[in-house]
Amino acid sequence: MTAKLLHTLPSDLDQARLPRHVAVIMDGNGRWARQKGLPRIIGHRQGVDALKDLLRCCKDWGIKALTAYAFSTENWGRPTEEVDFLMILFERILRRELAEMCREGVRITFVGDLASLPTSLQAEIKESMAATVNNQSIHFTVAINYGSRHEIIKVCRQLAQAVQIGEIKLEQIDEALFQQHLYTSGEIDPDFLIRTSGEMRLSNFLLWQIAYTEIYFTPTLWPDFDRSEFHQALLDYQGRDRRFGKA
Ligand code: IPE
Ligand code: IPE
Ligand code: MG
Repeated sequence: MTAKLLHTLPSDLDQARLPRHVAVIMDGNGRWARQKGLPRIIGHRQGVDALKDLLRCCKDWGIKALTAYAFSTENWGRPTEEVDFLMILFERILRRELAEMCREGVRITFVGDLASLPTSLQAEIKESMAATVNNQSIHFTVAINYGSRHEIIKVCRQLAQAVQIGEIKLEQIDEALFQQHLYTSGEIDPDFLIRTSGEMRLSNFLLWQIAYTEIYFTPTLWPDFDRSEFHQALLDYQGRDRRFGKA
C-alpha cells in the first residue's frame, strides 16, 4: 500500500470497531541505534518521529485518544547523560511542535510526577497544556516520570486524607472515586495497549487503567513502528473478542 493511501483508514479495518483510546509503550530506541552502530540518543531522536507519525495516523484514522509512555519513574536509573538528553529532547520537541499541535487540533496532557522534572521542562509542559486545552481532534497524553505504583499510592494518600479531615466517608471510596484521583482522570481507559521491541511486560505503566485493555506485543523496535505496523496491530485488535468477564 502506498503511503498516500494510508492517510485514510485501510479498507480492511472497521471504522466502528476501532479502539477509542490507544496506549503505547515505546520501547527499543536504544537497540535500534545499537543495531546501526549509533549512540542510543540517536534512537530516541528517531523515536520522536515515530511518535509524531503515530499521533497523526490516529488523527487521520479517527482514533480520539493516544497515550504514550515517554519516561518512567525507573528511567532515572539510566546514565546521567542519557537522562539529561531525554529531558532536553522533551523540552525541545514541545517548543518545536506546539504551533503544529494547535493547528491540528491536538489537546496535549502530561501525566506523571511532573513536579520533579527540570523547571524549564515544567514550564513548556504547562504552556502546551494551556495552549491546547480546548482542542478537540485528538487527546494526546504523554506519560513522563510516570509510574503506576507511584500514582496508586498518591491516590491512596489523597483519599485517606479526605477521610481523615472528614471530607468524605470511608464507604464513599469506590472504583469511580478512585479513578477520579488518578492522573488519567477524565479520559477513558485504553482499549488497546501496544508494546514494541519484543519485551512482554508492562514496566509499571497504567496498571489500574488496563484492567480490561487488549494488549499487543510486537518485536518491531519503536523507531520502526510505522503506519503499516499500526495497521497490523489494529487488524489483530479487531479480531479479538472482548468479553469483559461475560460468557
Ligand atoms: C524506550 O527505548 C525509550 C525510553 C525508555 C525513554 P529504550 O531506551 O528503553 O530502548 P532499549 O529498550 O534500551 O532498546
Ligand atoms: C518502559 O521501557 C518505559 C518507557 C518506554 C518509557 P523500559 O525500557 O524502561 O522498560 P524495561 O526496563 O525494559 O522494563
Ligand atoms: Mg527499553
